[in-house]
Amino acid sequence: MLVYLNGEYVDSSRALVSVDDRGFLFGDGVYEVTRALRGRQFEPERHTQRLRRGLDGLDLRWPFADEREPEEIGRRLLEENALVGRDAVIYLQVTRGAAPRTHHFPPESTRPTVYLAARAFSAPEELRARGADAITHPDLRWARCDLKTVNLLPNVLAKQAATAAGAFEAVFTRDGLVTEGANTNVWVVADGVARTHPATHAILGGVTRDVVLELAASAGIPVIEEPVRVDALWSADEVFVTSTTSDVMPVVRIDGRTIGAGAPGPVARTLYDALVARMG
Ligand SMILES: Cc1ncc(COP(=O)(O)O)c(C=O)c1O
Repeated sequence: MLVYLNGEYVDSSRALVSVDDRGFLFGDGVYEVTRALRGRQFEPERHTQRLRRGLDGLDLRWPFADEREPEEIGRRLLEENALVGRDAVIYLQVTRGAAPRTHHFPPESTRPTVYLAARAFSAPEELRARGADAITHPDLRWARCDLKTVNLLPNVLAKQAATAAGAFEAVFTRDGLVTEGANTNVWVVADGVARTHPATHAILGGVTRDVVLELAASAGIPVIEEPVRVDALWSADEVFVTSTTSDVMPVVRIDGRTIGAGAPGPVARTLYDALVARMG
């Protein structure tokens, strides 16, 4: 597999990062995951915009030649790895680079580490058809969840708890409210109205979430961006999660309790169909 590392296209077996890399030592970096269907990257501008926000938030400079370069590298990786005809994901990571370990920033001259890789992806269609299980999990993350940093330990632990329970996702809860999923945004539907946490510092504003907000508006599905109480999950008609790799995934059980009719609901179905149409 050919990957991109610091300006070069190399086989993944030769893509080596220093043990002094601040991504390794501190989780000092940001990442993006972009979907590419049959060679066409989905919403690359939104990913670029979020990447820039993340880099700014970490006081990291833009490490590419221009705004389009991440997409161009992604395109070449899709071509070189025979992924143009397929469903794929492109992973991008930028760290503050390799330098002797200090908590404060390294010298200005330190070059950020830039890594991109493209892989074939298979969407979880069987699970979507029957609906997924989730668990609730305390949201123990920091106060800038809007930055897509590689510091994912609370997300990793929550996802592992979900996996150990045989569930697809962990729904983060904080102060009696649902924030988001371990790597998804959470939506709760009651009486025909969908609710999802507003894009504050408490959640990662998903690219899929943004697109689904537009699709809901077009489909005439009312959405309120406000935090939902955990209690509201138990009386919801539908719950679903959205992300680059789950698209719109209905959740039919949480902590073993049945949600709504216990089957994928019409709002999730409508929005999933609209998303598939939008992805082309
Ligand atoms: C914490 C978190 N929330 C939401 C999302 C969904 O974001 P997107 O739709 O951009 O994939 C992700 C994706 O990885 C995530 O990690």
